[in-house]
Amino acid sequence: MPATLQTLATAARLAAPRSPAVIASAALLRPIARPSTPLARAAWTCAQPSLLLTKRAFHSSPASLHGGKGRPKPGEGVTLHFKRANGEIETVQANVGDDIVDVSWEYDLDIEAACEKSVACSTCHVILEEDVYDKLEEPDDDENDMLDLAFGLTDTSRLGCQVKVTKEMDGTTITLPSATRNLRVDGSKPTPH
Ligand code: FES
Repeated sequence: MPATLQTLATAARLAAPRSPAVIASAALLRPIARPSTPLARAAWTCAQPSLLLTKRAFHSSPASLHGGKGRPKPGEGVTLHFKRANGEIETVQANVGDDIVDVSWEYDLDIEAACEKSVACSTCHVILEEDVYDKLEEPDDDENDMLDLAFGLTDTSRLGCQVKVTKEMDGTTITLPSATRNLRVDGSKPTPH
């Protein structure tokens, strides 16, 4: 993006992020298509603060950008054990249909999910047990591209935002990698909404 447009976009964002004029200008400044290579796509996502802004502005963001269904009622959840990098295990109850990032947001686990499920980062990388991994559908090309950038990739690695909780996962252990590659230069984490 030319420097003048970048400056305009930044100024508009800082000025009044919810005004219709800013939303319209942000939409005009957005590139039409995501780049095809993983690195270019990751950089594109970082440069697109208007992506989430425009989707939130009229409360029309898709369900995939929201958290999950909250905590299940007692006895109705799927038990998941999350193994943190320091070896601690946290056991939680998850809803069928929520994804692993939803669960992480609900229980404040250490999954960063920097791109908020846009499949444009690898910070939701999780390592599954083999039998669970084998029952899932194969990751698509976008997910594989981002997995290639994940720290500590294993044969059973997946992006947490692409894995939905199923009843068959009851009792499984999901391992969080010892590190992730953060796209946010200030190290901040997204806030669930
Ligand atoms: S949150 Fe970025 S790819 Fe899953």
